[in-house]
Amino acid sequence: MTIHHAPADYHPPRDLLHGKTLLVTGAGDGIGRAAALSYAQHGATVILLGRTASKLEAVYDEIETMGGPQPGMAELDLAAATPENCITLAAGLESEFGHIDGLLHNASVLGERRPIESANYAAWQEVMQVNVNAQFLLTRYLLPLLQAAPSASIILTSSGVGRTGKAYWGAYAVSKFATEGFMQVLASELENTSKIRVNSLNPGATNTAMRRTAYPAEHPDTNPSAADIMACYLYLMGDDSRDVTGQMFAAQ
Ligand SMILES: NC(=O)c1ccc[n+]([C@@H]2O[C@H](COP(=O)([O-])OP(=O)(O)OC[C@H]3O[C@@H](n4cnc5c(N)ncnc54)[C@H](OP(=O)(O)O)[C@@H]3O)[C@@H](O)[C@H]2O)c1
Repeated sequence: MTIHHAPADYHPPRDLLHGKTLLVTGAGDGIGRAAALSYAQHGATVILLGRTASKLEAVYDEIETMGGPQPGMAELDLAAATPENCITLAAGLESEFGHIDGLLHNASVLGERRPIESANYAAWQEVMQVNVNAQFLLTRYLLPLLQAAPSASIILTSSGVGRTGKAYWGAYAVSKFATEGFMQVLASELENTSKIRVNSLNPGATNTAMRRTAYPAEHPDTNPSAADIMACYLYLMGDDSRDVTGQMFAAQ
């Protein structure tokens, strides 16, 4: 298993993403929020997708305050997302933007941390719905918009436990293995026939609500903030990674 990183000391130009329209899921908090802000800082029009309108509005306002391109907002609960929701979203984006240049699948839920033998089926299904099924649905219906771009990038968010399984990580770990599999299948399908690259990215331990829930005894300052780990998120979204596909990346 080869894990790649952004080039050492990667310092993208401020206009790296100028003219690009990017969709970020889970853009209201944590790593997705940091990615949305960082992409906007680098010139992108960012469509903020998430389930909590107030959080999306706060990120929207931050982007406006910093003078970034006016973002878009898509309120969608991925736990309940249907093909119809994704078709409607794609139609709206097509009429407003024509195409999209990138898709960061970031939203996920942690689910239960417990042994398989006592796992709850409803909790298992919710993790699979948000982390795997909704990711498939969005990709499935946004692909034509990505295909319409001069070149496009899909980033799928993985995890250490999606590359090596670990006790008590249950559905979350399995969902991240599925994410790696989805990345490989899609990258292989699109290779040579499309300008869309597809890679997976493990952010590594990062100080967010999810990390604090997973490791309640850990001091939050042990880990970098989401804003500190953006180099690889920028590298994979910008044209510097234009020829890179089907690879596993780590942000740290
Ligand atoms: N933090 C880490 O140490 C770490 C390590 C490895 C991998 N990751 C991965 O990195 C990604 C981001 O994690 P994070 O740490 O930033 O997590 P987080 O702080 O919990 O943020 C998760 C984001 O996903 C959104 N979300 C959750 N369920 C959703 C749903 N049903 N519909 C729409 N949006 C939903 C959340 O929205 P609300 O805020 O509205 O709930 C939030 O914006 C995840 O894929 C995670 O698995 C994180």
